[in-house]
This record gives sequence, C-alpha cells and structure tokens, in this order.
Amino acid sequence: MLTTTNWIEPRKGRPFITLTYTQSLDGSIAARPSTALALSGAAALTFTHHLRAMHDAILVGIGTVLTNNPALTVRYVPGVNPRPVILDSLLNCPPTARFLDVTRRPIVATTRRADVVRQRELEALGAQILYLPAERENAARVNLHALLAHLHAESISSLMVEGGARVITSFLRARLVDRIVITIVPTLVGGVRGVTDLLSDTQHFPRLRNAAIEKLGDDWIAAGEIVWD
Ligand SMILES: NC(=O)c1ccc[n+]([C@@H]2O[C@H](COP(=O)([O-])OP(=O)(O)OC[C@H]3O[C@@H](n4cnc5c(N)ncnc54)[C@H](OP(=O)(O)O)[C@@H]3O)[C@@H](O)[C@H]2O)c1
Repeated sequence: MLTTTNWIEPRKGRPFITLTYTQSLDGSIAARPSTALALSGAAALTFTHHLRAMHDAILVGIGTVLTNNPALTVRYVPGVNPRPVILDSLLNCPPTARFLDVTRRPIVATTRRADVVRQRELEALGAQILYLPAERENAARVNLHALLAHLHAESISSLMVEGGARVITSFLRARLVDRIVITIVPTLVGGVRGVTDLLSDTQHFPRLRNAAIEKLGDDWIAAGEIVWD
C-alpha cells in the first residue's frame, strides 16, 4: 500500500486530490483550536514528505498557516517541493509565513474582500494572489471549484490537501477527494476533530475502496480511494 506507483490518475478539469492528515486514535488533529500538536513519528513524517514530493501542489488553510507556520517542503526526502496553495479569503497571511519563497511561486487564493495593502506586501514576497469567487454555501470562503479549475489551467495535475479541520471538511463535503491517507498515532487526545459535520442534505458518507492499513514506526498509515455510496 505504501508503494505509491501509479497513485495519481488524471482527472478531467481539475487536479487529482489526495487528502492527508495525522490524527490520534480518537480522531483528534490538535489538542485545542488554534494550537499546534506534533503527532507523527519520524517514519510517518518521512512518508508524508514522500507523498508531498509526488504532488505538483500542496494546500492548507490560513488557520494552519497562522497556527503551525508550515514550510510545506519535502526537506526529509530528496525531491521537488510542491507549489504551496493557501486558502485565505481575507489575506490574513503574515509576511513571515515560511512557505513564502519566491522560487516556489506560492498561490494565495482569496476573495474580493481582501486587503489591498496586504496583497502588495505578499506579492513583493513572491506570492501570486488569486482572486476567486466565494463559495455559494459559505460566502465568506474561497470557492473550491473555481480554485481547482485555475490550478488545472496552470498545469497542476495533482494536489495534496493537508488540512486543517475546516479545509479537510470542506473538501470532503464538496466531494473533492480522490484518495485519503491518514496517519493514525497510538495516542488519545480528546481534542479538535479532523472531520466535522459531513452531514448536509444527504445521508451518503464517503467510503474507502481498496482500503489498507500498515504500521510505520509506531504509527499506522490508513489509505484508500474515496467513493460515495
Ligand atoms: N494533524 C494534522 O495533520 C494537521 C494538519 C494541518 C492543521 N492541523 C491543525 O488544524 C488546526 C487548524 O485548522 P482550522 O480548521 O482552524 O484551519 P484551516 O482548516 O487550516 O483553515 C481554515 C480557514 O481557511 C479559510 N478558507 C478559505 N476558503 C475556505 C474553504 N473553501 N474551505 C475551508 N476553509 C477556507 C477560512 O479562513 P478565512 O475565512 O479567513 O479565509 C477558514 O477558516 C490547527 O490546530 C492545526 O494545528 C493539523
């Protein structure tokens, strides 16, 4: 299962999407809202960097940028860093964000409600500010379909979505996940759940096809293709 050959299959009009995150045995991805929690062991972390290296781009929400300040690189393995993509409707991204690297042409996807001064500041640091329509369901947030169409037009054929909780749930609710890879750490946290509120107007839940689970160091990696009933 951890052999990732032929993992990514072309999708029409959008990139192939792998959703990946790390959770405790009880489904927590953080202990409290807006706090960082290092969960993965070294082997699982290295595996995650292998996954990153397989994808053209990597996406996180502004909540994760403000909390964890991730570099979104593949520094534990040889390979090419994926292009960072950030969901940030108001351009709250600070100029100190570690993913801001002019050579990686990071994309900050935002809406017309964003601050123009911050736009110029981030552009000066190498970010491409992408103005997109808002979601129909939640007008405060970036429309994922519009974003994916843009990434496809930029020849980004694979996208790794790494969190946090709101972003994970948004992609699942929009049925925009092709494969899921969850690192499960043998600990109990009782904190913030990675997946919340998948019930909208439907009783159909995502299932894993060709699901597999493997031990990696002290952790498990659970993975499969996503299908809806
Ligand atoms: N264990 C793990 O694998 C892992 C991985 C990543 C993060 N985390 C944890 O997750 C937590 C952060 O999660 P979070 O839920 O607070 O933040 P998040 O999911 O990283 O970012 C959510 C924010 O992104 C913006 N956004 C814009 N368009 C969106 C859309 N269509 N769908 C969803 N979000 C959109 C919204 O802010 P605006 O309205 O301001 O744009 C939204 O509040 C932290 O505690 C972090 O440590 C854990």
